[in-house]
Amino acid sequence: MVGKTDASTVTVSPQLVEWQLDQLGRIGSQPDGGLVRFLYDAAWSEAMGLVEKWMRHAGLQTRRDAVGNVFGRLPGTTQADRTILTGSHIDTVRSGGRYDGALGIVGGINALAALRQLTEHPRRSLEVVAICEEEGSRVAGSLLGSRGMLGLADTAEMSALTDTDGVSVAEMMSEIGLDPAQVAGTGRRDVDHFVELHVEQGPVLDTSGVDIGIVTGIAGMRHRLLTVSGRPDHAGAAPMDSRRDAMRAAAMMTVAIDDIVRRVGAPAVGTVGQMRAWPGAVNVVAERVTFSLDLRHPSDAVRLRLLDEIDARCRNLAAEHGLSLEIADRWEEQAADMDTDLQRLLAETADRSGFSWSSLASGAAHDSQLWARHVPTSMIFVPSVDGRSHCPVEYTQLNDCVRGANLLARALYRLAY
Ligand code: HGY
Ligand code: MN
Ligand code: MN
Repeated sequence: MVGKTDASTVTVSPQLVEWQLDQLGRIGSQPDGGLVRFLYDAAWSEAMGLVEKWMRHAGLQTRRDAVGNVFGRLPGTTQADRTILTGSHIDTVRSGGRYDGALGIVGGINALAALRQLTEHPRRSLEVVAICEEEGSRVAGSLLGSRGMLGLADTAEMSALTDTDGVSVAEMMSEIGLDPAQVAGTGRRDVDHFVELHVEQGPVLDTSGVDIGIVTGIAGMRHRLLTVSGRPDHAGAAPMDSRRDAMRAAAMMTVAIDDIVRRVGAPAVGTVGQMRAWPGAVNVVAERVTFSLDLRHPSDAVRLRLLDEIDARCRNLAAEHGLSLEIADRWEEQAADMDTDLQRLLAETADRSGFSWSSLASGAAHDSQLWARHVPTSMIFVPSVDGRSHCPVEYTQLNDCVRGANLLARALYRLAY
């Protein structure tokens, strides 16, 4: 039996962690080796079915909520109506990796499975959740899973939010047997803490050789869509100086954004990751180009200043080319601080376990960013090899995944038992 003073011996099964990550990493696999698991698609449904089965096999009570989040619960004894929640998202970016989101789910299931083996029972209930959506890959700016759990999603919005084919979230839900009318009722008030295990997705831990990252805060983020409109012309016959070429201006804006962000310097980051041209023909000067902007900084004030500067520069470029420019906001997440008491608890637990750790800030966005505004929240990072993520080569060594899951289990023990 593991006693109250010896939580540092709670240990997950490395074989199960490895096998489950491998199985989950096959669902939605593409020819390039990347994953596509988008909200409510066939791969999403298959993956959710599988993790629900693993939760049941771990002896957890399972249920799904109105937005499709899947929960596995280890009920508490004296404070069963209070919950410590862990987990992460099941969805991926386009051509994403096998660890982003998946590790937090697999680590959470195995942490609860290890705790369930103890002869002791938790005072507060423990739950692991496979969150239905975080990435905004199918529906912009959604964070639907966490917003659902926090009571921040509503039925009208489900009809208004659509993917690029015009299919509404409400339609997607109906297709897989979820009822959009129930969405508003899915919010919960019983969660005392949210603790998320995740791969770092950057190079800090891998470069420094440190086992664990304890996250201090998460950078704020704005997603925008910029549309440059000009005039279509013949690629052979229209002289260069007569053109109102939306592509030339979009390219200049892209470089200008990069220059502005580089001038401010780290940790500011700005990305133009998507661009589309109309009519999109090799021999037609582009009439219209749309492109995305993803801008992040840990200081919301600096981020907003940067956005203003980018707007002004892009509007000047559009005017110089005789073009029009529309700028639409798609998604905003404010910077968030992780709870300091929970950071301390994670640090002590890592020390007792003999894991090296360092505090670090997250440039990547997470469900925890939203949770932190509502309940004390913390994140455990484990190293990403070469700092690569959001791409098929994303990789975290098994011993790092297991170490992260062990730290999670031991921290959950200290919180719930
Ligand atoms: O974009 C992000 O940082 C997150 O992975 N969704
Ligand atoms: Mn991601
Ligand atoms: Mn993630």
